[in-house]
Amino acid sequence: MKIGIVLGTRPEIIKLSPIIRKLEELKNNLGIDYFLIHTNQHYSKYLDEIFFKELNLPKPKYNLNVGSASQGKQTGKMLEGVEEVLINERPEVVIVHGDTNSTLAGALASSKLKIKVVHIEAGLRSYDRNMPEEINRVLTDHISDYLFPPTEIAKENLIKEGIKKNIFVVGNTIVDATLQNIKIAEGKKEIIEDILKVIPMNKEYFLLTIHRAENTDNKKRLNNIVNGILKISEYYNIQIIFPIHPRTLKKLREYNILNKLESNKNIKIIEPTGYFKFLILEKNAKLIITDSGGVQEEACILKTPCITLRENTERPETLEVGSNILVNRVEDVDDIIEAIDIMIKRNRDWINPFGNGNSGGTIVNILLEKYKY
Ligand code: UD1
Ligand code: UDP
Repeated sequence: MKIGIVLGTRPEIIKLSPIIRKLEELKNNLGIDYFLIHTNQHYSKYLDEIFFKELNLPKPKYNLNVGSASQGKQTGKMLEGVEEVLINERPEVVIVHGDTNSTLAGALASSKLKIKVVHIEAGLRSYDRNMPEEINRVLTDHISDYLFPPTEIAKENLIKEGIKKNIFVVGNTIVDATLQNIKIAEGKKEIIEDILKVIPMNKEYFLLTIHRAENTDNKKRLNNIVNGILKISEYYNIQIIFPIHPRTLKKLREYNILNKLESNKNIKIIEPTGYFKFLILEKNAKLIITDSGGVQEEACILKTPCITLRENTERPETLEVGSNILVNRVEDVDDIIEAIDIMIKRNRDWINPFGNGNSGGTIVNILLEKYKY
């Protein structure tokens, strides 16, 4: 059985790593053949290369070198590149993950060539078509042949849209990745030493990540978020560690508001970190403030309280179990403080709704069973 895997961004590399590792193992035993197509949507060292290294993943057989561009141009280039590879390789199935432009391009190229599409993390919905990710999710789900929603809620979303066949609820591979790698990370002296350069032992901090288009590409909203962050650090008298996504850095510079953060001694802006360092930062934070999908999940798994600066989330499970609160009115710091107060007082005894950490293996077994291996 020949499997193609299309990936391109930081979260795809992380969340597909349990599946890639499993296929690497089986490749030798069962003669299973697989290959990676990297679109290179992410290409900066700290969004790309570092994860291949840390997660011990093989170098992709194909790198399409697409890089950054407008939505249509980026997706179009990927579509062309993936198609060319698939015509030569002719795998039986192609695996895509999540909701990025790489996901959509991989799924579309495959389905037009009548190659079966496997969508991991299927069925997530924010019901907000302003997000490019929501469009990618819906389209990918509707052209997929095997769908792996992480939870029953995600499965129900698919059924409501008339998708009924070959749906398997398997949990989310982020649990596999988090549990496997936090253990490794905690054993790495150099990672701990590196973190101590940013934050002294036992000092409390909040961890911040922001990168969503709806937060970064609107000057007023990004400025409100920055003002809110500055007031929060003052109100709680706490350090805020901010590993900054290049998109956000670019926008803060463009809008001339980066200096407000840089000149405040409580705000520690750092480069995006590798996975080991980030997991440790998440686990030990007093609270996480984010707009990331994966970070909402990891906060829940690692039992760190989280607030999400968005109007909606495609991870409603985190709200239901009580690990996360949405705050949309970022212009009103009282709203943010109210949510933080609730979260830092809350018992961290919520139950992780994303599975037991065996999703990667389960997905591979289901696929092998389908193809009678
Ligand atoms: C993409 C995904 C988003 C995902 C995020 C993970 C889409 C539509 N968006 O957003 O769903 O949550 O990845 O991080 O697919 N840049 C660099 N170096 C890089 C990559 C990007 O500097 O390696 C900068 C460029 O200025 C680029 C901007 O970031 O224009 C945005 O990159 P892009 O790939 O378009 O989207 P992300 O914001 O990374
Ligand atoms: N992450 C990381 N270093 C960072 C920020 C995030 O390793 O500096 C990891 C994080 O642990 C999570 C993933 O990146 O697994 C989330 O990616 P991102 O927020 O870019 O995308 P999203 O999940 O929103 O699509």
